[in-house]
Amino acid sequence: MKVFTTRVIPEEGLALLAHAGITVTQWSEPREMSLEEMIAKCKENDALLFAGGRKIDRPLLEHCRHLKIISLLSVGYDNVDLKAATELGIQITNTPGVLSNATADNAFLLMLAVARKAFFHHKRILNGEWGFSSPTANLGVDIEGKTLGIWGLGNIGSVMAQRCRAAFDMKIIYCNRHRNEAAEKALDAQWVSFDELLEQSDVLSVHTSLTPETKEKFDKAAFAKMKPSAIFINAARGGIHHETDLIAALETGQIWGAGLDVTNPEPMHPDNPLLQMPTVAVLPHIGSATVETRNAMSRIAAQNIIAAFQGQPVPNPVNHIYAL
Ligand code: DGY
Repeated sequence: MKVFTTRVIPEEGLALLAHAGITVTQWSEPREMSLEEMIAKCKENDALLFAGGRKIDRPLLEHCRHLKIISLLSVGYDNVDLKAATELGIQITNTPGVLSNATADNAFLLMLAVARKAFFHHKRILNGEWGFSSPTANLGVDIEGKTLGIWGLGNIGSVMAQRCRAAFDMKIIYCNRHRNEAAEKALDAQWVSFDELLEQSDVLSVHTSLTPETKEKFDKAAFAKMKPSAIFINAARGGIHHETDLIAALETGQIWGAGLDVTNPEPMHPDNPLLQMPTVAVLPHIGSATVETRNAMSRIAAQNIIAAFQGQPVPNPVNHIYAL
């Protein structure tokens, strides 16, 4: 059996595949493959281990209907046309759970970086501007005791809430479609409506997946309901906020700051005005980018492939091809 990986993946996943007698070919060029290259590689293999931002849409899937499995090296699967994959009998899997801590840590980092204008101060040093300092210039804000609003209190959102409660005794409110009573107990969290989340959060952190319902949910109307002192954090998917509306909300003082690990589009253009704002911190989608986490993700992605090749139920299905 043969697997093609769209990126060079961590050793631990490769070792599992090798141990199972699976031949692996990796795309090692530092550029996105063309569609034609991708189809050609898929045709030479029985499975795809996928990392990267490309859409896995119906035209691509139709060329690759022979694939036994597409194993995603991510928890998110908004880039995949699941309906088409299911109709074509292609199993799709993801890597849930193992990246919750690293991704929440990254949101926590962004919250603090924005609150203390850390990226802006770093830029001032690089620009030779660490000179005369005034006790009233370029001040940040405290986080202690403030209200954290979580949109999407699942695995990652819960870790973010735990971190914020433990470190800063923050009050936790959250908005989910359904109540998360276990988290309410553990975090003393309060379930609120979306409007209440907007109106009451000092820090509003997004941890939901990108779906037609969540797409550009943070737009002009949403930002207008937030506090002028609020910090908006998005460590989930860039498509959940409307980036032009976010820029306008920051420029007009409707909200105070923003920390983004994900942008809309990705990669962000270097001329984007967000990069010049003192109360904005942007990272290049590195939520899960630690050695430990990426190794764990590669192991899970490999285990999904091995199970599929052995005709076993895959551990992390995101579509249910056998139910058809
Ligand atoms: C994930 O796993 O979904 C991360 O955001 C990387 O895409």
